[in-house]
Amino acid sequence: VKAVAASARRVVHVAVDESGYDAHIGAGVLAELGTRIMALAPLGPVVIVTNPTVRALYGAAVESSLAGCGIGARIVEIPDGEQYKTLETLELIFDAALSSGADRSSVIVALGGGVVGDLAGFAAASLFRGVRLYMVPTTLLAQVDSSVGGKTGVNRPHGKNLVGAFHQPRGVLADTSTLATLSDREYRAGLAEVVKYGVILDKDLFDLLERESERVLARDEALLVEIVERCIAIKARVVERDEREAGLRRLLNFGHTVGHAIEKVTGYTRFLHGEAVAMGMVAAAKLSEQLGACESGVASRIERLLQALELPATISGDLGRQSLVDAVAFDKKVSGDKVIFVVVERIGHCVQREIDRGLIATAL
Ligand code: NAD
Ligand code: GLY
Repeated sequence: VKAVAASARRVVHVAVDESGYDAHIGAGVLAELGTRIMALAPLGPVVIVTNPTVRALYGAAVESSLAGCGIGARIVEIPDGEQYKTLETLELIFDAALSSGADRSSVIVALGGGVVGDLAGFAAASLFRGVRLYMVPTTLLAQVDSSVGGKTGVNRPHGKNLVGAFHQPRGVLADTSTLATLSDREYRAGLAEVVKYGVILDKDLFDLLERESERVLARDEALLVEIVERCIAIKARVVERDEREAGLRRLLNFGHTVGHAIEKVTGYTRFLHGEAVAMGMVAAAKLSEQLGACESGVASRIERLLQALELPATISGDLGRQSLVDAVAFDKKVSGDKVIFVVVERIGHCVQREIDRGLIATAL
């Protein structure tokens, strides 16, 4: 991990709770972890939750940063994969933390993608009824989305993220140089969430992605710092105004109603979450056009950008339309025949509308 150039680092403050927290963004900021944790003055051991993939890449850098500040840490390795985002894995984290002597002053560090973050976050929310959490997101999705905002949780056989807690971290270190080792597919899936921020709240970001799609795909470092910063700033502003998702935060679900349905009918194995969201965003934009919420052409503009970023934009014909519509009925945001749906009014501006579930069928 390279030392961070002062000019290339950014800080976004997230003003929730009494003191809020900072997200530090830049190539090489991982090396600052020891300093950041020292500032939290933990008396008990620091517990680093990670998986074998991420540990092999960044475990040594994290341990040496902590050791350089005289901080002892216990690494808890959990298996890699969404299928392990379960209560059983949570027990593994609790037991490892307790047997390493963790106490109420301990800090749990989440080193990895969204799966590690959600599990470590839920562990931090519930161990001793709440210990401090520090996020070190290493996927694009985790940097721009899951590491900020305090949602934590696990899956149940009934569906994803059904058991969890809100628990804000004490800080976030988003080291953009860690994105260099992500597979192309995981990286592009993260880009879908970046496009989402552009569509819902930031036309300039959307324009930038259109203009610079090649540099984005090439993971240009300076551009990545800017993109991650913009996304975290948007998420921070949303979460500050609506931490518990009573209203505004629902905008972050743009493309997710259909996206979740696609994931569900394909058994969560065929598409990555971001890929399903990409298709879901185009479907949502088409529906927005049909509802007269936006002028025609918006959906195809989103579609073109997703294609330029090498993401799937059209729902393939072999996915049964009726099973998709049925899957929408099981979404958390659905009550009766009505669905709270995020519609586009124009690029950079979305609103929520209660619509008949049946209307979704027409957009599919
Ligand atoms: P993930 O955590 O499964 O990571 C994807 C893969 O990349 C894994 O195999 C991981 O080991 C690997 N990886 C991580 N960092 C790497 C790196 N730097 N180099 C190489 N490989 C690396 O998936 P994800 O997309 O990061 O997160 C998805 C999860 O996030 C889902 O469970 C979703 O529900 C959750 N999520 C939570 C929130 C929230 O607000 N809490 C928001 C969005 C998504
Ligand atoms: N990823 C959606 C949210 O954090 O609310």
